[in-house]
Amino acid sequence: MIWIRDLIDEMTPTFSKAMKSLEVDDSVWLPLIGRATVEDHGDVALPCHSLASRLRKPPQDIAEQICMLVKEDLDPFATVSSISGFVNISAKPEWLSNSLSSLISDHRLGIELENPLTFAIDYSAPNVAKEMHVGHLRSTVIGDSIVRMLEFKGHRAIRENHVGDWGTPFGMLIEHLLDLGEDLAANELGVGDLDSFYKQARAKFVSDDEFADRSRSRVVLLQGGDPETLRLWRVLVDESMRYFNEVYSMLGVLLTDEDIRGESSYHDLLPEVVERLKKVGILEESEGADVVFPGGWVNREGEPLPMIIRKADGGYNYSTSDLACIIDRVERLGCDRFLYVVGTPQKQHFEMVFQVAKQAGFMNENHQAVHVNFGSVLDTDGKVLKSREGEVIKLHDLLEEAIRRADDAINEKNPELVGDERDQVARTVGIGAVKYADLSTERTKDYVFDWERMLSFDGNTAPYLQYAYARICSIFRKWGGDRESLRDAVFVLSNSQELTLSRRLAEFPSIFDNSFDTFSPHKLCTHLHSIASAFASFYENCNVLKEEDDDIAKSRLALCELTARELQLGLGIMGIDVPERM
Ligand code: ARG
Repeated sequence: MIWIRDLIDEMTPTFSKAMKSLEVDDSVWLPLIGRATVEDHGDVALPCHSLASRLRKPPQDIAEQICMLVKEDLDPFATVSSISGFVNISAKPEWLSNSLSSLISDHRLGIELENPLTFAIDYSAPNVAKEMHVGHLRSTVIGDSIVRMLEFKGHRAIRENHVGDWGTPFGMLIEHLLDLGEDLAANELGVGDLDSFYKQARAKFVSDDEFADRSRSRVVLLQGGDPETLRLWRVLVDESMRYFNEVYSMLGVLLTDEDIRGESSYHDLLPEVVERLKKVGILEESEGADVVFPGGWVNREGEPLPMIIRKADGGYNYSTSDLACIIDRVERLGCDRFLYVVGTPQKQHFEMVFQVAKQAGFMNENHQAVHVNFGSVLDTDGKVLKSREGEVIKLHDLLEEAIRRADDAINEKNPELVGDERDQVARTVGIGAVKYADLSTERTKDYVFDWERMLSFDGNTAPYLQYAYARICSIFRKWGGDRESLRDAVFVLSNSQELTLSRRLAEFPSIFDNSFDTFSPHKLCTHLHSIASAFASFYENCNVLKEEDDDIAKSRLALCELTARELQLGLGIMGIDVPERM
């Protein structure tokens, strides 16, 4: 049951008749009608401004006239009014109450399944032997939430962790590993000191010619498949993955070792990419390199921008791997959709890759590739987030800090919570706060990492929503009844707080869908917050456990139940747990 859509469907015949009498065709007014933007004015609104010239009347007169025409027919389920050129329609409480009944009895809370497609979701993708940075954190958190949405809508979601585990830097990294001694190096990497390892290697590479030569020969050995070199490379990959997995497990994301499809795994396909591009006749030679000109992009000098497929030295590029990756996802995995949860700076890269993949026939009109881009993570001064020492922040440390800070906040709010449960709640709240802060910001915008704000119990934050959930659990503990018995509740809605909460609860499935369709978790976050705040004022103003009228008491408990389930499902889709107590 999709609340606003159903309401519009219900009144369409009436409107159609009225509008016909004004000689306005369905094709004119139907696209205008939609969800009211001012909640207090109604549920649905028809703006009449664009009809003014056609009907030669001021919008307000048109709105009033339409009101007169539809009033009677809509009366069984809705009321109408006109405000500054809008026809506003509000569902009557009985209609709203029916909507809620169908939601509460549905284990999917009104969210419909879609015809299943196979999606590849490319996300997280940190680089081996380099620190996983806050951008990877964003990708991991957003990607994971999209996977959960996809699965909930009935799609097949193939998680692809395209880790950067191949390329020229591996020559110097392997040589540095040998210089340090394998055990020591493994140790350094295993504890997550990836950045200093990389920097040391880099420093030697630029200052020491002998080291640089060794590094270059090592790359040749690596690309040639030399077994000992591959073994050393594996050490680097495994130790880095060990660290990444630790971060994944702290975050509680779905990624596992099974999802790793690093750049190296497309290695064998790279010559094939060259062959295929040659075959379709789009590969050109430029200064010894093999390139494709996708058209539409120019460099600073205004010359056509090439995509380099194979460099003059025979090495392949990041783009070449991404083309191979598309072939693999289409032909081996049978994917229909490809989502790339990667930062906005790679916009042009993906546009060019998608364009070339289409030109080369690697994907056709049945395939759809989307760069699900996101903005940077900034500190409260608006600069790129760094550690106190000005280094890249270690995600492991960042998440530990989140848990510690959550623990302090809980201590202040509820000192009675102790022991294992307290530890568990601190983890749920701390990690939840970090994830939610990220997800609740429109993903294409830069996001400001602000401990105070994300851990606050007020505002659009995880702790606020988790607290609302825990509060409802406590109401149910006091009540002591069977929550299942509320699934057939009849909603009796009369006062304004009940009505506001009910409307927001009723809108949940359509907001969910909209959030899913646009791969924008923040829309769902905003709505969850509006539900939790409507719940707060409902609970402040309406008796629940003390209500004497049994029907009203049951209806109010059912509102609590529906609120709890929507919060739990919505946060669950973000990969955020809810505590029963906090
Ligand atoms: N490893 C890359 C980075 O850190 C991201 C890879 C994104 N995925 C892809 N298929 N290119 O920037």
